[in-house]
Amino acid sequence: MNQSGTFYGIGVGPGDPELLTVKAMKALKIIDVLIAPKTEKKSDSVALSIAQPYLKPSVEIIYQTFPMVKDFAEETEVFKANTDEILHELQSGRNVGFATLGDPMFYSTYIYIFRLLEPCGVKIVTIPGVPAFLAIAAQIGRPLAYGNDILTIIPATADLEAINTALDHADATVLMKVYKNFPEVVDALKARGMIEEAVLVSRCGLDDEKIITDVAAHKQEHLNYLSTILTRRNHD
Ligand SMILES: C[S@@+](CC[C@H](N)C(=O)[O-])C[C@H]1O[C@@H](n2cnc3c(N)ncnc32)[C@H](O)[C@@H]1O
Repeated sequence: MNQSGTFYGIGVGPGDPELLTVKAMKALKIIDVLIAPKTEKKSDSVALSIAQPYLKPSVEIIYQTFPMVKDFAEETEVFKANTDEILHELQSGRNVGFATLGDPMFYSTYIYIFRLLEPCGVKIVTIPGVPAFLAIAAQIGRPLAYGNDILTIIPATADLEAINTALDHADATVLMKVYKNFPEVVDALKARGMIEEAVLVSRCGLDDEKIITDVAAHKQEHLNYLSTILTRRNHD
């Protein structure tokens, strides 16, 4: 019987193909199968395009579609089916990689697959990656947190009430997943004197990267899913 392969959760960073770790590059070189996650709406996988230059020519690429998770309990079937497909590959002795944008353990689809695979007794290696908010801080030359700053990270897809409560106590702040709720987020930041310091970055490190410093003026803009805001409370 074949020995099971290893499952690699590989953080490929937020976009710039040079922002991969040496470990990520090594794992991409040895895997036999790469799982390329994509959403229902898109036909391409950004994680795959970052990983592609490092893959061996014989690698098999399997696209897996994942829903945007609001309630995991309602979406379990899709995740289970994708996990079964991965298990099947591992049990046939192949090493399988799962490419994740940024870091795999940070607001990532990988987390759901990891949780389903963990009890199956397969070998899992998770390779951290540069999360988008840190690449953005470097790109725009904005120290994110220093001294005794408390950093708050808020997914803008959360309930507006929860966002407002978090912002009430926040100083240095990262807002992830800013797209649908963008106008409400702008209002919430304005009300707390946090809009002037806000910088929004879409698709950091990719060819069509966009940096917006007058965030309020763009309130009605349709944003790409890969959009993040960095801000801090103005203490003046
Ligand atoms: C599902 S989360 C994935 C986070 C990722 N695991 C990380 O470590 O950054 C998706 C969110 O990450 C942020 N993001 C990921 N890549 C980005 C990029 N290249 N530019 C700006 N924001 C990005 C956006 O806030 C996006 O809505």
